[in-house]
Amino acid sequence: MKILFLTHSFNSMAQRLYLELTALDHELSIEYDISDAVSLEAVDLYCPELIIAPFLKRAIPETIYQNHVCLIVHPGITGDRGPSALDWAILHDEPEWGVTVLQATAEMDAGPIWASVNFPMRAAAKGSLYRNEVIEAATRAVLEAVLKFASGSFVPEPPDPATARGQLRPAMRQQDRTIDWHNDSTATVLRKIRAADGFPGVLDATLDCYLFDAHLETDLKGSPGEIIARSQGMICRATVDGAVWIGHLKRPDGFKLPATQVLTTADLPEYPGRDIRYSEQGQIGYLHFDFYNGAMSTKQCERLRVAYLEATRRDTLVLVLMGGADFWSNGIHLNLIEAADSPADESWRNINAMNDLVQTILTTGSQLVIAALQGNAGAGGVFLALAADQVVARLGVVLNPHYKAMGNLYGSEYWTYLLPRRVGPVRAREITENRLPLTAKQAKQLGLLDDCFGTSHAEFLQGVTLLAESMALRAPELLAMKQAQRSKDELLKPLADYRAEELSRMKRNFYGFDPSYHVARYNFVCKVPNSRTPRHLALHRRIGSKAN
Ligand code: COA
Repeated sequence: MKILFLTHSFNSMAQRLYLELTALDHELSIEYDISDAVSLEAVDLYCPELIIAPFLKRAIPETIYQNHVCLIVHPGITGDRGPSALDWAILHDEPEWGVTVLQATAEMDAGPIWASVNFPMRAAAKGSLYRNEVIEAATRAVLEAVLKFASGSFVPEPPDPATARGQLRPAMRQQDRTIDWHNDSTATVLRKIRAADGFPGVLDATLDCYLFDAHLETDLKGSPGEIIARSQGMICRATVDGAVWIGHLKRPDGFKLPATQVLTTADLPEYPGRDIRYSEQGQIGYLHFDFYNGAMSTKQCERLRVAYLEATRRDTLVLVLMGGADFWSNGIHLNLIEAADSPADESWRNINAMNDLVQTILTTGSQLVIAALQGNAGAGGVFLALAADQVVARLGVVLNPHYKAMGNLYGSEYWTYLLPRRVGPVRAREITENRLPLTAKQAKQLGLLDDCFGTSHAEFLQGVTLLAESMALRAPELLAMKQAQRSKDELLKPLADYRAEELSRMKRNFYGFDPSYHVARYNFVCKVPNSRTPRHLALHRRIGSKAN
């Protein structure tokens, strides 16, 4: 089937649905929802059999939905309507939520229903629910809706008011989100911040900042609203019955940054970091690094390298790199780079810190290393994973193993060694040039991953433990093979040469005449809306299509 996506951006939802549908041999073309005229032109050029809107911020033009079936992915249960579906569900502490695929009609979100899938809610930030439960449910609902559409016989019905739990809710305003520090319990404060994470945040009039990235603190206390401690970029704020950590802040005219970078907190007591954790089970060590949005700053790379080296000094046989629950890694920290006095210098420091980390993992002789991707990875974050001896991912993980989309960035992290050694030079070139995401299954077929398993996080962790135990049993033999291979590769071409070559290209990206990387980073960090759909996504705009 020819399917056109009308979407605000090629976000994680659009990527996952694109991958699932193309895997079923549907042909997909994408148009960003920039204006009615652009959407109309895309429909005219592509002549799709079906239109799907995975992530839309505006209504679909009438002439489009009157002449084509347009399926909207709404992150709400049957009957729910409005642009703040998940926000209200979190704020109201709904025990169950869902995704509904409905047909576009004149009334927003009120059209007949093609499919609906519910899930139990989890105490988590909106972005985390979106990237996990909502995307999983949307995948099932969209695949079901597409099958029904293909059957030609399914007639969608409007929601039955007698059974539908959902209702029309307005856009959530900052007044609805405001925290009353003198009355709201810790649980309410957490819910309010989580309902607004990663966008738009909760405006705090006293601090003149939007709040993001909230976590429970169990011991510290203070007078309500007071900032009482700091820890690796986070601030701790007292509530009426406890305290919460707040990781990120955004000034009304700025972009999201670690909280201590926005506020002056030098006088506060510093507590140990919570983002890097190590645990051990028998001869297996697990290193977790849960960095907000998977972005890894210079300092985070350095701290992680120190923690990694400490872990390698333990009496274990296998070391599992767990990343975070939501993201494995998205490479260098573009927001902190943007905020630096010299973004070029900070880019240079950050990529070198990443490279030091990758090199340390690559040359580990004392343990076998597994990269266990519970969440998505992008750009340098994917190549960081490839430094491990075994690379496995949870089913449902989406990888973006390319840098070019960020203003033609060449990339480093030893990718010119790590990628071809797994997939061969031809595929390595295709993967990096295509700038397309890959599902975990596709990545395994290409040889990028060793394996993928487990729908839920729990299933995945069980599988990872089994893998680590089986590797531990063969550790002496596997370690000897690993060392022999590394020595052979080093003789053929030293790691230092790969690094020097990559960095000479990166130097041009950072300091050269062409500012593309700096422009792309600014647009990304400041969330400048797309002005056009990249040609590699818009089949209908390629040379040779009806448009040309
Ligand atoms: N640095 C800082 N923030 C980053 C980041 C990075 N490297 N990668 C992602 N983020 C942030 C996004 O700004 C977004 O922030 P928000 O909470 O304010 O919305 C959040 O992480 C989620 O990213 P988003 O782009 O919405 O997720 P996605 O799943 O739709 O897309 C990627 C995933 C990886 C394709 C996309 O995030 C991306 O291109 N990241 C940049 C990768 C990169 O070029 N890294 C530098 C080179 S190593």
